Amino acid sequence: MTTPGFPMSQPVASSGCRLSKEHLMVAVPVALVAAVGGFLVGHYLSRRSCKKGQVNTSFNKDSPKVVHSFDIEEIGSKAVYCRCWKSKKFPYCDGAHTKHNEETGDNVGPLIIKKKDA
Ligand code: FES
Repeated sequence: MTTPGFPMSQPVASSGCRLSKEHLMVAVPVALVAAVGGFLVGHYLSRRSCKKGQVNTSFNKDSPKVVHSFDIEEIGSKAVYCRCWKSKKFPYCDGAHTKHNEETGDNVGPLIIKKKDA
């Protein structure tokens, strides 16, 4: 397919968009640089929002420190506390550590506090 005013050697896309070899030689590197740049910026931003080594990824993130305190008399006969930071009932364990361990190969489990006779 040719277009009046354009030599036979220049390809013309069926949509009517004219793409010469010179256009492609500029467009392809620009697209590659844009794609690589976009990937690097996205990677940088995602690493900033999830700092390496953080175990708490969702609970009270606006607080500088997450602390819970319980009186031993209020615990009752048994209490099960989360140590994986994945529980929806944090600080109590809801069993979410099982899925976390399966997905990551980790081996975390809860802290269980109970009276001797319980
Ligand atoms: S849910 Fe976190 S230790 Fe069980």
